[in-house]
Amino acid sequence: MIQIEGLYKSYWRSGVELAVIRGVDLFVAAGEFVAIMGPSGSGKSTLLNIIGCLDIADQGHYQLSGERVDHSIPHKLAELRARYIGFIFQSFNLIPTRTSLDNVALPLLYQGLSRSARKSRALSTLQRVGVADRSTHLPSQLSGGQQQRVAIARALVNQPQLLIADEPTGALDSRNGEQVMKLFKELHEEGHTIVMVTHDPVIGEWADRVVSLRDGVVV
Ligand SMILES: Nc1ncnc2c1ncn2[C@@H]1O[C@H](COP(=O)(O)OP(=O)(O)OP(=O)(O)O)[C@@H](O)[C@H]1O
Ligand SMILES: [Mg+2]
Repeated sequence: MIQIEGLYKSYWRSGVELAVIRGVDLFVAAGEFVAIMGPSGSGKSTLLNIIGCLDIADQGHYQLSGERVDHSIPHKLAELRARYIGFIFQSFNLIPTRTSLDNVALPLLYQGLSRSARKSRALSTLQRVGVADRSTHLPSQLSGGQQQRVAIARALVNQPQLLIADEPTGALDSRNGEQVMKLFKELHEEGHTIVMVTHDPVIGEWADRVVSLRDGVVV
């Protein structure tokens, strides 16, 4: 699913280079559940954003599902994201003025589906993650665990092969964190490839494999 070789990424501030990813090779097979772990500032989010085609590397080769990710063509990145990837964030990133159903239906807007088809697909995805009874609620009317389920439904609604999650349990208590991991495990068993960043060893245990990052290199 993911073939990365010789990846480098620096940030420049006031003429000073900060090398954040310093020669990473990473292979993730289709259907794998991988956790990326490491200290704060080790480059986990930077690497995950490159994997998710949200950011671009300075150097290196990246093939996603056999397709070369060409960093020189930004619109191609958007196309790859739409075709392959669902995103889950620590802070849920739901649109506060829209209901759960609308938040989940939003990624379907560009698929040429009718309004009723979008609604029914969104509702069945909310059902899948166990929050269909909250479909007309706004995010502010939901618990953190429920908001994350809605966000997971939004990530799933286009049926992406790859789920990318940056600290998906970071804003949840341990019970809700465990519920979200149980859901991840089920999605993994259904065949999704999952790459998740976490700093929590208890959460990391849910993955098949842990990739440890330190100062921008895999250790
Ligand atoms: N847009 C940016 N501009 C400049 N420096 C950045 C930028 N984004 C990240 N960095 C720096 O790159 C380094 C790696 O950041 P990154 O967010 O990848 O770390 P992380 O491993 O995800 O940390 P955490 O566990 O705290 O989330 C940090 O030193 C950070 O300050
Ligand atoms: Mg981070």
